[in-house]
Amino acid sequence: METSKRYKFLALCALMVSLVEAVDRNNFKTCEQSSFCRRLRGVKPGESKYELNLGSLQVSDTTIEAELVNKEADVTFKFVLTALVDNTFRVVVDEVKPLHPRYKVEGALDGEPQVSKLELLERSSEQVVIKSGDNKVIIKAAPLKVEFYQGDSLASVVNGRGLFVFEHLRAKKVEGDVVTNLDEQPQQTEDPGAWEENFKSHHDTKPRGPEAVGVDITFPGAHRAYGLPEHADRFALRSTDARGTDPYRLYNLDVFEYELDTTMAIYGSVPVLYAHSPERTVGVFWLNAAETWVDISNSKDTNVVSSIVNLVSGQQTETHVNAHFMSESGIVDLFVFLGPTPQKAVQQYAKLTGSAPLPQYFALGYHQCRWNYNDEDDVRTVVENFDEHDMPLDVMWLDIEYTDGKKYFTWDPIKFKHPAVMQQNLTATGRKLVVIIDPHIKREGGYFLHEEALANDYYVKNKDGSVYEGWCWPGSSSYLDLFNPKVREYYAGLYALDKFTGSTNDLYIWNDMNEPSVFNGPEITMPKDCVHYGDWEHRHVHNVYGLFYIMATYQGLLNRANNKLRPFVLTRAHYSGAQRYAAVWTGDNAADWSHLAISLPMCLSEAMGGISFCGADIGGFFNNPDEELLQRWYQTGAWLPFFRAHAHIDTKRREPYLYNQDVRTRIRNALRQRYVHLPLWYTLFWEHYRTGNPVIRPLVYEYPTQTDLFDIDDEILIGSSILAHPVTKSGATTENVFLPGGAKEIWYDIEDYRPLPGTGYLSIPVTMDKVPVYYRGGSIIPRKDRPRRASTLTHDDPFTLYVALDNNKRAEGTLYIDDYQSFDYKNKKYLYIKFVYENGKLTSSFIDGDANYQTKAWLERVVVIGPPSGIKEAKITSKKLGTVKLKVSYDGENRSLTIRKPGVNLQETFSISLH
Ligand SMILES: *[C@@H]1O[C@H](CO)[C@@H](O)[C@H](O)[C@H]1NC(C)=O
Ligand SMILES: *[C@@H]1O[C@H](CO)[C@@H](O)[C@H](O)[C@H]1NC(C)=O
Repeated sequence: METSKRYKFLALCALMVSLVEAVDRNNFKTCEQSSFCRRLRGVKPGESKYELNLGSLQVSDTTIEAELVNKEADVTFKFVLTALVDNTFRVVVDEVKPLHPRYKVEGALDGEPQVSKLELLERSSEQVVIKSGDNKVIIKAAPLKVEFYQGDSLASVVNGRGLFVFEHLRAKKVEGDVVTNLDEQPQQTEDPGAWEENFKSHHDTKPRGPEAVGVDITFPGAHRAYGLPEHADRFALRSTDARGTDPYRLYNLDVFEYELDTTMAIYGSVPVLYAHSPERTVGVFWLNAAETWVDISNSKDTNVVSSIVNLVSGQQTETHVNAHFMSESGIVDLFVFLGPTPQKAVQQYAKLTGSAPLPQYFALGYHQCRWNYNDEDDVRTVVENFDEHDMPLDVMWLDIEYTDGKKYFTWDPIKFKHPAVMQQNLTATGRKLVVIIDPHIKREGGYFLHEEALANDYYVKNKDGSVYEGWCWPGSSSYLDLFNPKVREYYAGLYALDKFTGSTNDLYIWNDMNEPSVFNGPEITMPKDCVHYGDWEHRHVHNVYGLFYIMATYQGLLNRANNKLRPFVLTRAHYSGAQRYAAVWTGDNAADWSHLAISLPMCLSEAMGGISFCGADIGGFFNNPDEELLQRWYQTGAWLPFFRAHAHIDTKRREPYLYNQDVRTRIRNALRQRYVHLPLWYTLFWEHYRTGNPVIRPLVYEYPTQTDLFDIDDEILIGSSILAHPVTKSGATTENVFLPGGAKEIWYDIEDYRPLPGTGYLSIPVTMDKVPVYYRGGSIIPRKDRPRRASTLTHDDPFTLYVALDNNKRAEGTLYIDDYQSFDYKNKKYLYIKFVYENGKLTSSFIDGDANYQTKAWLERVVVIGPPSGIKEAKITSKKLGTVKLKVSYDGENRSLTIRKPGVNLQETFSISLH
C-alpha cells in the first residue's frame, strides 16, 4: 500500500514535470546545443580532407573497394560502392580498425539488398568510372567525390561540397598530455561537448568520445526535396539555411503538444529523401539509427546559387537541392536511388525496406478510441450507440487505464473484469478490440513481467551495468532491451493467449511511448549512455528502439494465431522498415484547424517514406474541437489510410452520436464515404504490398512533370483514381482546388458527377456537407454501397463498379478480393481482377490467372460516369450466364448511366456491352 501510494505520487510528479517542461521548446536541443551537430554543421565547404587511395582499388562483379584516407588525421577507412538491382547504389564507409566496433543498423532493411553487376570503364590514379545498367558512376579520388549519372546526365553527387566527415574513434587524451597530434580535425578537439555534454540537468558521459559521421549530397537540377518524416511541417522540404533555422532533426521523441511548421524532431525518423525535378527523381536513404540532423538548401529559396554548384559540376545550373546528413555515431551507409520517376524511386526504397503486409479489412474501417473508455459498460454503450445511430464502426480501443495499475498484460480487476466476454460481445457485432501496450514496465514487486525481466536480466542498463530506471505512466519503470533476440522472443511470447490472460484472437495492439518516452530523461527519452545488448550505447540505436519493439509485437501476434491471422499493430515511434509491422499515427495533436491541415502533408511524407498506413487523431487529441472542426476532421480522416478518433482524458466526450442531428448526419456521411470505398482502399493496400506504390500520394507522384503542383499538399490522391481536397479551414465557403493533368484530364465530382478539366486552380463552393472529392476520368472504382455497422459484415456483399470515363471514353481499374483476414493469399487464394472499359464495352480479366478465391460477392450495379449518349440497353456475357440483357438508365442530367443487376459472381470473367 505504502509503495503503491509512493509510486502514484511520484508518477504524478513525473507527469507534472513533463507537462510543465514539455510545452516548452527549450526542452529539446537545437543544433547549436548538440556538440556533434555544431561540429558537423561547422565544416566548411570545399576543404575536404578525405582522399581515396586508388592504388588500393579492388573491383569485383558487383562492388568496388578502396582505402579512404583522412589526410589530416592520417586515419584509413574502407570505402565500398555496390551496385544493386533497380537503379540503386550503396556507398559504405567504415573505419578499418576502429577502437570499438561501430553500429550498423539492423532491422530496417527487408533482407539483404540484391546486388547487380557493375563494369569498370576507366581507371586512373585520379578517378574510377563504372557502369551498371544505364547508370554511370564517376568516383574521384582527391578529394573524394562520387558522381551518379543516368546515361550522361548528372543526377546526384556525394561529397560534392566536401562536407564528408567520419570521426574515427580515439582514446581520450588525459590532462597534462602534450598535444602533439595537430592532425586532429580542429572542430572535434575544440568543441567543448566532444567528450561529454550537458543538456539542462542531464549529463551525457560519452564514453567513446566524438564519433559522428556526415556527408553532403547534391542534386543538380532538382526543384524540390521531399521526405524525411516525421516532422510537423509541410510536404516540400524547406531550406534550412535560407530560413536561418535548425536542420531537420531525426530523433524519436515524445514531444508534448508539438509545434507545427518546424523542423524539430517528433516521434518518428525515416531518413529517406527525394530530390525531384520534371526530368527525374533521385532518392537517398541514410541508414543510420543515431540522432541525425539534415540541412536542406534549395536554390529556389536563395539568391546565392553559383558558388555551390560550381563546386559540384562546374556547370552553372540554375536549380539544385543540397542535403547535408549529420549523425552522432554509426557508419556511413548511403543508398542512392536513381529513379528516374517518383514511382520508381519510391519503389526502389520499398524494395530495400519492404512494404506493408496486407492488413485485415477491419483495420481500414473506422476506429473509436479515447483515453479512456472507463469500463466494460462504457465500451458496450458506445458500441450500442453507434448501432443505434447507424454509424459504422469496426474497432473499439482502450488506452492505459484498462490495465491493473499501468501493468501491461493485466486488466483492471474491477472495471475490466470480463475482458474475454467483452471481446466476444464486440465480435458478435463484427467488431474488434485494440488495447495499448507500452514498453515501460512498472517496477513493482509481484508484477510477473518485472520479476521475470529482472530474473532473466532483460532490462536496459545504465552505463555502470545496473538496471536503468526511468519515470513513465506507472511511475518508476524499466525498459526491456529489445536488441537482445531472447528478449524479443520473450516479449513476443507475452502475447500468447494463455500468457496474456483475458486476450483473444480478436484483440489487437497499440504500441505507444516507444521512442522510448521517459518523463524524467534527457529530452523526455532514455539517456544516451544507457547500454543495450551487444554493448551498444543507447545513442547508437535510439531511432530503432521502437522498430525492434513493434517487430516483437508483430511476431507475438503472428505466433498467437499460429501464423493464420494478419496482425494489426499501431505504433507511435517509427523508423524505416516500420511499415512491415505497424500502422502509424501522427501522435498527440491538438483540436485545432492547423493540426487538421498538417495531417495531410505529414501522412504524405510518411507515404513517401514507405509508411502508407498513416492517420491523425480525429478531432485532435488535446482540447475540445468545436462541432465544425470535428465534422471537418471526420470528412478529412475518411480519406487518410488510418481512420481513428482519439481524445485526451481531460477532454469532453465527443463520440459522434452525442451531437445534434445535422452533425450526426454529416459524420455518418463521412463514415459511409469511407466504408463504400473500402474495396478500393483494400485493393490499394494489396498493390502497395506488391509494388511499394504508396496508398495515398502527393499530386507530384502522379504528375511529376507538372511544375505548378510541386508544392501542393492540401490535397491528396487515393491511389491514382481519387483526388480529395479536404476542407481544413473554419467558415469555408469556397475552396481553391487544384485539378491536375491539363485540359485532357477530366475530374468528376463524386456526388453529382459534374466533369471538371484538370487545368489547375478552380474555386469550388463548399458547404458543411460538401467536401471537394473527385474521381479521375479513366478510372474504374470498385465500391460496396450497402451500409452496414462494420466492415467485417460486408465480406459477401455485392460490388458496384464506378466507371469514370476519360476523354477517349476509356477507363480501367483493379479489384482485389480474398478472405480479408488470413494469409491464404500467399497460397494464391484470392482474386485480383482487372476491369477495362473501351469501345462501349466493360470486360474483366484476372491479373494472376493462377489465383482463385470462392467469393459470394457479385456485381450489383455498374455506374458509367460521363457515359456515351443514346444507350438503350446493355448486355452481359459470361460463361455461366450466357448473354443476358440488362436495364440501363441515365441519371442526373445524363451525367451517369446505371446498368442494373449484372448479377455476375466476381469469380467469373464477364463483359458488358452498351447498345
Ligand atoms: C456481454 O453482452 C451481454 C449481453 O448484452 C451483457 O449482458 C454483458 O454484460 C456483456 N459483457 C461485457 C463484459 O461486456
Ligand atoms: C438526356 O439524354 C436524352 C437522350 O439520350 C435526351 O432526350 C435528354 O434531353 C437528355 N437530358 C439532358 C438533361 O440533357
